Amino acid sequence: MKEFAKAVLGFQEPVTKALQNTILTMPQSVQKIAEYALLSGGKRLRPCLTLIWYNMLKGANPIQHSTLSIYDSAIVLEMFHVASLLHDDVLDDADLRRGKESAHIKFGIRPCLLAGDALLATGNKLMAEFQNVALMSVISDALLKTANGEIEEIELAGKVPSHEQEYLSVIEGKTAWIIRSACLVGAIMAGASKEDQEKAANYGLNLGMAFQIVDDALDFSDESIIGKPAGGDLRERKCTPPIFMYLQSLTKEEQQEFIEKFSVLPSPIFEHQKQEKIGFTEQELAEITQKIIQAKYPEKTRELASKYLQKAEESLHDFTGQNKELLLEALEYVRSRNK
Ligand code: FPP
Ligand code: MG
Repeated sequence: MKEFAKAVLGFQEPVTKALQNTILTMPQSVQKIAEYALLSGGKRLRPCLTLIWYNMLKGANPIQHSTLSIYDSAIVLEMFHVASLLHDDVLDDADLRRGKESAHIKFGIRPCLLAGDALLATGNKLMAEFQNVALMSVISDALLKTANGEIEEIELAGKVPSHEQEYLSVIEGKTAWIIRSACLVGAIMAGASKEDQEKAANYGLNLGMAFQIVDDALDFSDESIIGKPAGGDLRERKCTPPIFMYLQSLTKEEQQEFIEKFSVLPSPIFEHQKQEKIGFTEQELAEITQKIIQAKYPEKTRELASKYLQKAEESLHDFTGQNKELLLEALEYVRSRNK
């Protein structure tokens, strides 16, 4: 087994314990939802990154607390991530998450939105216990950037980005910033220099960009692999790279027809906004999904991720040792991720 996979396994128990303890501090009304969302699998990439950066940079003055441990700081961004997924599945009207019923299908939309809010508040409260302004600033920024990325994505839904930067800005906000923050929290907790904090942040941001680009490629994988139907982004009218590449392969007339249908709001979540135009039929969605897979656009999308993985690797140049090796392996994990 690769060392990164072993390290991830080694972190599972203390991270899960920290999550369980924190769930118990939450209002009872939301504990069931928090448990369902937080403890139903997931790779725990964000806590692992905090822990590895902490272990690599830990110096003479790490941030300490009389009762909390590094694991408590490592779960905060996981809580934010899971809160964002609770909200995201409502916004995307997604029935499945990690191969299981989405929380809002099981518990209802309103309780899930509020449980998401409670997770955000509990994460903030936990981090505040460390009484460090830099940590608080990092996590507030992460929340703001994530929400902004999602807003930008909603604004772009059904449209074709006029520039690659529009897509990159969305994924930097909605995904990369929390991963960046996870690395930075590890560096700050370790008492690292500003210079090393910057390297941790750059590594995380670039890893996060690559992670979402690979995720957008994986969206065109079989349901049995990704735990949700293939082509979800097409259905959700997100013009990700595989969809953009497909669009580029069409004739001008075909492109026009595609854009017309792509712009139609999905039902049922927006059904109060009746529209004249008719969107893609189920059969068309399935056909386009198949064409994208056959043309190998998901594989070509993965190539885009390489540039970011390269930049992340450059942030590690000045380091040595076992933790650096783990961070290098994390890059390979993201590059070759297949679920
Ligand atoms: C998943 O993307 C969604 C995100 C990475 C971010 C969602 C953010 C919000 C809902 C804003 C609220 C912010 C906070 C911090 C609560 P996706 O839909 O492309 O991926 P998926 O296929 O896994 O759903
Ligand atoms: Mg989604």
